[in-house]
Amino acid sequence: MKAGIVGATGYGGIELLRLLTNHPQVKAITLFSSSQAGEKFENIYPQFRGGESYVLHDLEPEKMKEDLDVIFLATPSGVSSQLTPQLQGSHAKVIDLSGDLRIKEPATYEQWYKKEAAPDGTLGNAVYGLPEWNQEQIEKADLIANPGCYPTATLLGLGPVVKEGLVKPDSIVIDAKSGVSGAGKNPNPITHFAHAQENFQIYKVNQHQHIPEIEQQLTIWDDQLEPVTFSTHLVPMTRGIMATIYLQLKEGMSEEDLRQKFKSYYEPQPFVRVRESGGFPCTKDVYGSNFCDIGLTIDARTKRVTIVSVIDNLMKGAASQAVQNMNLVFQYDERTGLAPLPVYP
Ligand SMILES: NC(=O)c1ccc[n+]([C@@H]2O[C@H](COP(=O)([O-])OP(=O)(O)OC[C@H]3O[C@@H](n4cnc5c(N)ncnc54)[C@H](OP(=O)(O)O)[C@@H]3O)[C@@H](O)[C@H]2O)c1
Repeated sequence: MKAGIVGATGYGGIELLRLLTNHPQVKAITLFSSSQAGEKFENIYPQFRGGESYVLHDLEPEKMKEDLDVIFLATPSGVSSQLTPQLQGSHAKVIDLSGDLRIKEPATYEQWYKKEAAPDGTLGNAVYGLPEWNQEQIEKADLIANPGCYPTATLLGLGPVVKEGLVKPDSIVIDAKSGVSGAGKNPNPITHFAHAQENFQIYKVNQHQHIPEIEQQLTIWDDQLEPVTFSTHLVPMTRGIMATIYLQLKEGMSEEDLRQKFKSYYEPQPFVRVRESGGFPCTKDVYGSNFCDIGLTIDARTKRVTIVSVIDNLMKGAASQAVQNMNLVFQYDERTGLAPLPVYP
């Protein structure tokens, strides 16, 4: 299979290249850059020296869609909404890592992203690529909207209880934290080392663009749910997301019964691991891997449920989830090329 990566020089693109070079079904990889075409990839990222040498190419949609079997778009929002329509109508499958194709309602996308939405024909074809919950649709898809990093952690943490209609509709609060690589490779005043190091900050309060993505999927599962409170914090670490989720159940339930619900959903899933009683994951439990680890408890005094869900934002939150989606689209075992256990410490 021949794969292409647009935005290969970014954090998501680099991880895609690392994974695809170890994927047994991928025989050729072409890298694209909007700013550094002609440059050798290993001259920019010397850690790739010693393997195959890659030259960055200009974007040529007509040629790309004829030559390639799968095209990953690891580009900032506002790019794939314009580029994807030019890539459709060929045999090439497209997997978009940006937020451009995730929100079905164009006005909602424009409100939260402050950019023009993709055309209806493109949005209508995009399948939301959360493999643990959407496998059948993904297997038939030509176009995948790879979920955001925060939504991946949040939705995997909420799926088993929301899908069964167990949650009090107005009770969900999501307190989420991310490492600085979530903001991509370009530094800004908030992610600058001197500001971020030894600092802990909340950002985009009630305004984060992942809010409509999370609510869209939650209300597909349970249309009675009301808007959620979702807060995001920057943690002085490179990778990792922890979503700590608080909610109330409509009816009392033992912690063990709740845990069994999670286990029954996720035991068949190779990349979601549910902790036993008393166990809560930390971000290093999944570092560099495609795993999502989940811990949960019920507070006997307040009856409130706490669910903790962790992922590596660049892996399950971006590149490795995109490869998992590619595997499903091409009918490979979804674990193909995604074997690595987490890096620790
Ligand atoms: N970082 C994360 O944890 C994470 C997680 C989930 C999803 N995402 C999403 O994935 C996408 C990529 O994120 P990232 O962190 O990899 O960002 P990044 O590090 O900023 O990289 C984005 C890349 O896109 C390319 N690019 C910029 N403008 C372009 C244009 N007009 N046309 C084509 N390519 C363009 C750039 O490469 P060239 O200059 O070489 O073209 C750049 O290296 C974003 O939409 C982001 O929201 C990121």
